[in-house]
Amino acid sequence: MAEDLHIISGTKEEQYKALVPQIKALLEGEPDLIANLANISGALKEQFGWLWVGFYIVKNEELVLGPFQGPVACTRIRYGKGVCGAAWKEATTLIVPDVEQFPGHIACSSLSKSEIVVPVIRGNIVKALLDVDSTSLEEFDTTDQQYLEEIISLIEWN
Ligand code: SME
Repeated sequence: MAEDLHIISGTKEEQYKALVPQIKALLEGEPDLIANLANISGALKEQFGWLWVGFYIVKNEELVLGPFQGPVACTRIRYGKGVCGAAWKEATTLIVPDVEQFPGHIACSSLSKSEIVVPVIRGNIVKALLDVDSTSLEEFDTTDQQYLEEIISLIEWN
């Protein structure tokens, strides 16, 4: 497909419904993982305008910064540390309505107020995490969880 994104306005659900097929088309036929993680980050950032959208990849027992869009971020996160490390440990999506209330939250940017972290799980193993940060409190809910998990399921991880 053409490498441009059709941005739409509307409810969060309407935005995801327009975005998911476009992400699907972007990933189709492209086997390179980094390219695909980069385009997912770009598509989400462009549609929703969140502060930070990107991936942390599990490498040698820690998380290492992967493709992202937004301000520079910490490069390594240990198991169980911060929201990302906790989502890795629990192997589940974490929605944090107010990052200041999350014990051990790692503040890469003081502008971040709420966060959602979705693990990429293949064969029962967490391979990576999608991390999204917003400048608004309580930005993320189960609608984001549902669609971000759907987007994550599109990634072919070999
Ligand atoms: N806040 C995250 C760290 C990553 S940055 O937000 C990009 C955490 O607590 O794990």
